[in-house]
Amino acid sequence: MNANQIRQKFIEFQQKHGHKIVPPAPLVLENDPTTLFTGSGMQPMMPYLLGQDHPEGTRIADVQPCMRLQDIEDVGDPRHTTVFEMMGNWSLGDYFKEEQIRWFFEFLTKEVGLDPEKIYVTCFIGSEKYGIPKDTEAAQIWQKVFQEAGIEAKTVDMGTAEQGAERGIQPGERIFFYDDHENWWSRGGGIETTPLGDPCGPDSEVFYDFGEDKQDVAKYGKSHPASDGARFMEIGNQVFMGYRRNEDGTFSELKRKNIDFGGGLERISAAAIGSFDVFRISLLLPIIEKLEQLSHKKYDNNTDEMRIIADHLRGAYLLAAQSLEPSNKAQGYALRRLVRRAVLKALDLGIGQDFLTEILPVIAENYADLSDDILPNRKNVLSILTKEEQAFRRTLNKGLKELNKLAKKPGLDSDSSTPQLTGYDLFKLQDTYGFPLELSVEEAYKIGVNLSKDYQNEFQTALDEQRERSKTASKGMFKGGLSDTSDQTVKYHTACHLLLAALQQEIDPSIEQKGSNLTPERLRFDFSIDHKLTSEELKKVEDRVNEWIMADLPVTFAEYDKDYAFDELHAHGSFRDRYPDRVTVYAIGGELPTKQSTEMPGSTVMDDASLEVSVEICGGPHVSRTSQLGHFKIKKEESSSAGVRRIKAVLE
Ligand code: ALA
Repeated sequence: MNANQIRQKFIEFQQKHGHKIVPPAPLVLENDPTTLFTGSGMQPMMPYLLGQDHPEGTRIADVQPCMRLQDIEDVGDPRHTTVFEMMGNWSLGDYFKEEQIRWFFEFLTKEVGLDPEKIYVTCFIGSEKYGIPKDTEAAQIWQKVFQEAGIEAKTVDMGTAEQGAERGIQPGERIFFYDDHENWWSRGGGIETTPLGDPCGPDSEVFYDFGEDKQDVAKYGKSHPASDGARFMEIGNQVFMGYRRNEDGTFSELKRKNIDFGGGLERISAAAIGSFDVFRISLLLPIIEKLEQLSHKKYDNNTDEMRIIADHLRGAYLLAAQSLEPSNKAQGYALRRLVRRAVLKALDLGIGQDFLTEILPVIAENYADLSDDILPNRKNVLSILTKEEQAFRRTLNKGLKELNKLAKKPGLDSDSSTPQLTGYDLFKLQDTYGFPLELSVEEAYKIGVNLSKDYQNEFQTALDEQRERSKTASKGMFKGGLSDTSDQTVKYHTACHLLLAALQQEIDPSIEQKGSNLTPERLRFDFSIDHKLTSEELKKVEDRVNEWIMADLPVTFAEYDKDYAFDELHAHGSFRDRYPDRVTVYAIGGELPTKQSTEMPGSTVMDDASLEVSVEICGGPHVSRTSQLGHFKIKKEESSSAGVRRIKAVLE
């Protein structure tokens, strides 16, 4: 079965078990301050996992394209990719461990046809410190499931991954208990790092065994499921979201227990063809084959370069097909980097000519099964990315010229007549022209220019300094690519709704939101307008927002059919075509039609129906009353792009 068939099977299988299939979120999430890209299937589900009712019910499933840029350095090995599709299903207070475990096992063995003998699983060993018991319940369900398949399934306490590498596994062993670093899931990773207020819980991970001979024992120790070695590959993770982290750091059980399941389409597809190398699946192999053809080189001898190119161009394709454009900022810059790295790796393979025109159609063909709703801009990908490729080649040429120019400056050593390039020069070439160190060194050698003795250290120093600078810039971004719903960020989210309403009321009713970015420290809000705001206008907007904050307006939400929300409630929302048929509407002040209205937890009665300030289609979360925001202050107003201005503001 190939990847497209497995994706389809998963959808049908979930439907059969009563799940509503929802459209996946875009890779670039609106209103998600703390991450560049959607990094897991649960990320867009956060409000529902935190207790809000999902408009489509209690059984939800989707196939979510994900991008984990933090894995970029691992790409090149047989299993890491920056972009992947996560097949997800969620029980929102509906079924729990028994159904989830049985269904996933059934899906893998009956639908995909994996050999049950090759499936191994892990469960949580428990935490004495936090009073969370060992998950014997999940292990017992697994034991039954394996027994029914005629497989002996002994359980073993492994503890840490290091202990696993020392011990290895014995015949008959199949269910392994590990500590929280392996088997606790939260948006922050292990149990200690679970963000306050977040839903979380023990998980049970499922692994496929590609055979003892795949394990590099010298490098990774003895094989065991949680090893980084190539014998076992994780193909799915079932999180039993039964806990919530309290403000004092302890954990309490959730009244409503959720299942958060995620299974990697690429990895399950690899298991289905018995390949420990995910780049051999149907979504990736055609790209590799094209690269072999273009470079006249064999994949087996050039795995790292070909995997990186295939991965990066596939990622770039999906991003551009979702309407992202290369730029020098945030997501656009990530897209640019993917293209540039692919072009440079292609140079290593001897592909020096434009080659995206050859590769992108192959990728497009692989994704022909995904709907236009998911890839609305697929028509324009070729022109956007080939333009980027050409621009980068021009930049590289400029870098080359610059290198030659730098090489003509007088030597640095007074007793040496030959010119020298320092590591700082080389860093500048990389930083400004994307001209990588290795190319510079090669080129310097070619034109007979000396490099200073210490060029590597100098380069490293310059790089470290730059990293240090950008660390501050990326502060507040979760590593795991997940949304920050800290109290402070939630407040800024509500402040954005007030700000939009104030701009429309005080300046121009036709103002539209063009984007926003929130951190626990500030909000940034982009909006359409034809002029720079005057200081009087800014003052009016700021005063209006503060007036609404002081009025202590209730924030309420309810679900409606999309058409009703737009046409009857006149709810504000910038992406009418992209929303699902049922939407959540948030109101600040005023009164939403009561029939389906739900109050925010913690809000009292809707006692201020007189003043309707804002009605927006939005996934939340928000504060329950505006007085929680404190004082709103605009710090800066500037241009963002043509016809779009940007406000930066803080809550004090
Ligand atoms: N949210 C879980 C994961 O990303 C399923 O592994």
